[in-house]
Amino acid sequence: MPSDQQSGKMWSGRFREPLDPQFETWQRSIVFDWRLLPYEIAASKAHASALCAAGILTKAETAQLCEALDAIGAEFASEAGTAQVRNHATAEDIHHFVELKLAERIGPLGLKLHTGRSRNEQIATDLRLYVRDCIGQIIQGIAGWASALVEQARAAGDAVMPSYTHLQRAEPVLVAHWLLAYVEMALRDASRFADCAQRLNFCPLGSGAVAGATLALDRSIATRELGFDAPTANSIDATSDRDFALEFAEAAATTGIHISRFTEEITLFATSEFGFVDLPESYSTGSSAMPQKKNPDLTELLRGKCGRLLGTSVTLSALLKGLPLAYNKDLQETQEPVFEAADTLEGMLQVLPGFTRALRFRDDRMQAAAQSGYLNAMAAATYLVHKGVPFRKAHEKVGNSVRYALEKGVELGELTLDELHQFGDEFGEDFYDAITLDATIDCHDVIGGTARERVREALDSAAERIAGLARPAVTEAIHAGA
Ligand code: ARG
Repeated sequence: MPSDQQSGKMWSGRFREPLDPQFETWQRSIVFDWRLLPYEIAASKAHASALCAAGILTKAETAQLCEALDAIGAEFASEAGTAQVRNHATAEDIHHFVELKLAERIGPLGLKLHTGRSRNEQIATDLRLYVRDCIGQIIQGIAGWASALVEQARAAGDAVMPSYTHLQRAEPVLVAHWLLAYVEMALRDASRFADCAQRLNFCPLGSGAVAGATLALDRSIATRELGFDAPTANSIDATSDRDFALEFAEAAATTGIHISRFTEEITLFATSEFGFVDLPESYSTGSSAMPQKKNPDLTELLRGKCGRLLGTSVTLSALLKGLPLAYNKDLQETQEPVFEAADTLEGMLQVLPGFTRALRFRDDRMQAAAQSGYLNAMAAATYLVHKGVPFRKAHEKVGNSVRYALEKGVELGELTLDELHQFGDEFGEDFYDAITLDATIDCHDVIGGTARERVREALDSAAERIAGLARPAVTEAIHAGA
């Protein structure tokens, strides 16, 4: 005879011995999969509809089941309710929990719901729905950050700064151009998430434990009810596939890398050595020891959180690598990294737009840095190119001029024509106009370049693309009722 505890299990029939109590506690996923409750309810209702169409449930039974499922969803939606779910004494996982609650509410009819389905397809479905909803929120968060960057870029106007290669000053660029570089990254991140949402949008329900449902279910019913595009094509794959979880975590990690690069630059630019940006006090902290300090805690924490995001994607790929088909209990371990990636990134995206808006750039310091140190040398060489000098030669002539100016302690524009003529006859009066700060900016007049007109166009294009960011359909079945 199975023990009392055992008889509450979803699989008690075959067993004579109870579970080792420590193993029993340790293997339960209810402690984290409680958050899938709304998805489990929605997927269960969709399954009930399919059972009804197949003649397994009457219309009245289906209605009663769905009502009870909704009532369970409502009963445990609050924070206190959630705590009850995760602390439930016997439920093994969220699927078991809902089954127990259904039986409590409507007796044997509750047990009928498990006809023709397996937890293997249920978890595959719930987790897809969860990830799809997270993606909607994350894309919105990314759009929020990108919009804040665009606002700053518009506010920056024609302000300039040095760009860097090898962390050495390279050429002057518009501050807006630099900010828009991060907008491009954010837009790519959003498209990676949208892509993931599109690829995951197939309904596993009807896949059974591995080989397909043992009832002739019309799979299009649950597919439609849950807002999926089509049923999954192969039951073995559908019950063992966690690519969507991996892709989600990888997209989160890539977004994290971009946020981390941004926050690293801000941290650097906020040092007194750079002095390019004033950290907003509302996002900084002081030192308990050194009274003068204003520390960039927010940027440092965001940079740190990126490590956590990378961790989740590594965890998932390590988990999946080498798993035989189809369902294995290892797959239960894919849930927590997904939750962690979602929580971490959502949290990051909540603070990032406000912080980005609050940044105050020191235009004077940036301009001073962009105006000295021969950052117009490329523009100078380009001037010679326009005079017919081959670029290699132009490079050399300007290089010689720079060396001479360096020795004299002046900028290129401060050399006289006579001095310049030592290095090339081609230098003329118009040279000085060709290497002003404005000219140096505007000579990069290509799509994607920092010329002022190009950046104005880029700003409009970025704003338009942010406004058009696709968001996956939310799980109507859940959010309509909520
Ligand atoms: N809690 C399980 C998971 O997250 C649900 C699926 C259980 N399936 C099974 N065959 N034991 O993976």
